[in-house]
Amino acid sequence: SAVNLREVHDFLIQIAYKAGDMVTSAKPAAAGHGTKKNSADLVTETDQAVEKMVSTELKAKSPDFEFMGEETYQPGDTLTSKPTFIVDPIDGTTNFFHGYPYMCVSLGLAIDKKPVVGVIYNPFTKALYTGIKGQGSQFTDPFHDRVKLPLRDPEPLQDLSHCLVAVEWGSDRDGNDYDVKTKTFRKLAGSKEIGGAMVHGIRSLGSAELNLCGVANGALDVYWETGCWAWDVCAGWVILEEAGGRMVGAHQGDWEPSVDQRRYMAVRGGEGREKVIEEFWGCVEGRVEVG
Ligand code: IPD
Repeated sequence: SAVNLREVHDFLIQIAYKAGDMVTSAKPAAAGHGTKKNSADLVTETDQAVEKMVSTELKAKSPDFEFMGEETYQPGDTLTSKPTFIVDPIDGTTNFFHGYPYMCVSLGLAIDKKPVVGVIYNPFTKALYTGIKGQGSQFTDPFHDRVKLPLRDPEPLQDLSHCLVAVEWGSDRDGNDYDVKTKTFRKLAGSKEIGGAMVHGIRSLGSAELNLCGVANGALDVYWETGCWAWDVCAGWVILEEAGGRMVGAHQGDWEPSVDQRRYMAVRGGEGREKVIEEFWGCVEGRVEVG
């Protein structure tokens, strides 16, 4: 395509730092907040203010591109094949609200409904993760030193029982999807004696995008969630794949199926990956077959 992905990437980094300053100077507990679909689905004034700033900047810079943002999304909005910025102003709003420093500004670009640029910034740790389709992904530390991802050659994965796995509860807390989640978590953690996979550990840290970055850098072996939206995964998807990781069982380009179908599994690079994926599916009851 005619889009200069490197230029978009560099601009998104500037915007991510600017957004980060807005986030760290806001006082989450004192700031206005509310809930969306239920009491576990939070939004703060800062989410909205950051999205406004980001969308204004991006529209000024690239007026021909579409924009999809978590806070302005309306049911029925669809992703077209046009270049589209996909933005989560604060991924990890619950953490932000409680002052737990695991959240990020997530800025992605999709073309033909496929993620091609990703910029993810945690303003509290000053960790920046970026990626461009076909051009690799990188981690930039608080001193602006940049290194390629993954940080080191990946160790073999062995099997699922040796994995550190991230999952998320999300904000959908009932129905089939909730059932599948809780059963899967139990199976992943449980001992072999009770038919479980007994993974090394399960983490539920509260930001889908940072989980993807964790898999990209190799600290996490697997991340699995059901119910993610485009803005929860777009940017991290590029970073993950460019770091040699894989996204499995997802609907690339079809980001609005039912909640049960919005399942994403990210697995890091390394020998033995296929075995881990198969073992993981064995822990997911009511698996929905997707592409
Ligand atoms: C949420 C977080 C959370 C995940 C949810 C997301 P938000 O994003 O990434 O970890 O479980 O699925 O919606 O609401 O904080 O932007």
